[in-house]
Amino acid sequence: MSKPVLYDELAQQLAALIAGEPDRIANTANMAALIYHGLPELNWTGFYFTQHDQLVLGPFQGKPACVRIPWGQGVCGAAAVRGKPVVVPDVHDFPGHIACDEASASELVVPLLLGARVVGVLDLDSPVRGRFDEEDRIGCERLTEILLAHHQDWP
Ligand code: SME
Repeated sequence: MSKPVLYDELAQQLAALIAGEPDRIANTANMAALIYHGLPELNWTGFYFTQHDQLVLGPFQGKPACVRIPWGQGVCGAAAVRGKPVVVPDVHDFPGHIACDEASASELVVPLLLGARVVGVLDLDSPVRGRFDEEDRIGCERLTEILLAHHQDWP
């Protein structure tokens, strides 16, 4: 199955999973599980939520991870500050990368944008170098847009 078709399916499944459910923890937990089990070659998928000057760990799938990331640090912090997705083909080449699971080789982080406000990030890690490309970025951005369209009242 091509990546665009796979992301189309995930988008439909996500919309169905969160339809009618207002709880953002429940919905982000299901979204992390949907992505983690729906996409190949991932070793971690989850959320960090903005709290003052930090990103704080939210629902995820994978090994236990670092809980607090100072704003601007690591790949997650970089995506949050820029308000744009960051694709890192080899995390060892990214200055300041925060290694939570030493198996991670590449990473994609997509900010959760509510208008211009970054309320958190979606973080995908892979044990395969160069795992994420433009199709993944576009597909994951679309998934975050579906989530945020459903949670316009995000605190
Ligand atoms: N690698 C991330 C930290 C989070 S873990 O990958 C789950 C970063 O550099 O921001």
